[in-house]
Amino acid sequence: MLNFSYQNSTRLVFGRDAELSVGKTALDVLGAPGKVLVIYGGGSAVRTGILGAVEKSLEEAGFTVLDKGGVQPNPRMGFIRETIDWIRDQGVKAVVAVGGGSVIDTAKAVAMGLEYEGDCWDFFEGKAKPVKAAPVFAVLTIPAAGSEQSIRCVITHHGTKAGIGVECIRPKAAFINPERFFTLPPVQVSAGVLDMFSHILERYFSNTTNTAYTDGQAEAALRTIIEFGPKVLADVKDYDSWCQIGLAGSYAHNGYFGLGREEDWACHAIEHEISGWNENITHGCGLAVVIPAWMRYVSKFAPARFVTFAVNVMGVAPQADEKATIELGIAKFVGWIQALKLPTTLEALGAADCPIESLAHHCCRNGTVGHLKALDADDVEAILTGAR
Ligand code: NZQ
Ligand code: ZN
Repeated sequence: MLNFSYQNSTRLVFGRDAELSVGKTALDVLGAPGKVLVIYGGGSAVRTGILGAVEKSLEEAGFTVLDKGGVQPNPRMGFIRETIDWIRDQGVKAVVAVGGGSVIDTAKAVAMGLEYEGDCWDFFEGKAKPVKAAPVFAVLTIPAAGSEQSIRCVITHHGTKAGIGVECIRPKAAFINPERFFTLPPVQVSAGVLDMFSHILERYFSNTTNTAYTDGQAEAALRTIIEFGPKVLADVKDYDSWCQIGLAGSYAHNGYFGLGREEDWACHAIEHEISGWNENITHGCGLAVVIPAWMRYVSKFAPARFVTFAVNVMGVAPQADEKATIELGIAKFVGWIQALKLPTTLEALGAADCPIESLAHHCCRNGTVGHLKALDADDVEAILTGAR
């Protein structure tokens, strides 16, 4: 196990009516009321009434609310710049996101931009490092990206989807009311389930040894997602199942499952090329295509880990031949993805025409990706070709 220093400073408010305590919690964290900016997406937060409930809660706690809607999935830099320009001199004390990963990441980028005089995209190009951000609060409407507790922020600009991770943007508090997931369309339910699963996989597929505790925690969380993912897809109003998915998704990406080990993240790097190339592609759907192809390509380099995955996560009976166990594990995983009605090929994703070679080179523009097996552009090209 590797040395580590870990702090997760996000307060998690979880359960029915969680969103009603946003105002009180913000007051508690900020110490005094003031102006806050509420950011939301393309309209679901207005239609379901959660936006109104959050704003009321803030106003009742004494805050003055400014709001801005219109964040698109796979959020764009243009919207962020526009928002920062509008809000910069208005004395905003905090940014409140009401939505999913796209809205929360937009809020994080705006929060960083408010504390930086240059262009916020500098951070995503590695030209500057954020050291300060306005406090962010996240009211979750879709369990998927885990951004409500994560240090990550992923933004798209002219075909480049780039992510950064810094502690100053980790939300001060996250509000999760699983009843608020009842209005999700099936594809977003499934894509979200697959995304949270992948956030644990990216940490579980590691070369670091002697991580029995972290492995056990990760395997339990993965089995929970395997069990309850199909349940929320079958019945979108199954509150108790949503509680398991909501909690798993939020912890999946707050760093806990990576304690003491090197993480991989190749599948995310490859998927971000796909949804950066075509912004209409949902991140979780892209992952459903990339992960099986990645597994088939890299499993021979780390067979022991893939046997453990097959047996402890996918419930495969160990076979006499290690290769057979691994193949059964991957096949069972693909079957689970298909049961979630997600695509498992580029063609089914609607990306048969994606420029594999140039995406692979763009993916490796800063060097190899992944750690279980460090992948160069040729490897990424082979994986994407295998995903056709
Ligand atoms: O825009 P609205 O109308 O709100 O509709 C949204 C959107 O179309 C809809 N939706 C959300 N809550 C709903 C709802 N519809 C009905 N009822 C509700 N309760 O769902 C659609 C998708 O929303 P989005 O925020 O894009 O989903 P998600 O949470 O999956 O976020 C995806 C983004 O997060 C990034 C992804 O790359 C992608 O850009 N990620 C961010 C991470 C992070 N910051 O830690 C980590 C992830 O790996 C990921 O890369
Ligand atoms: Zn993800």
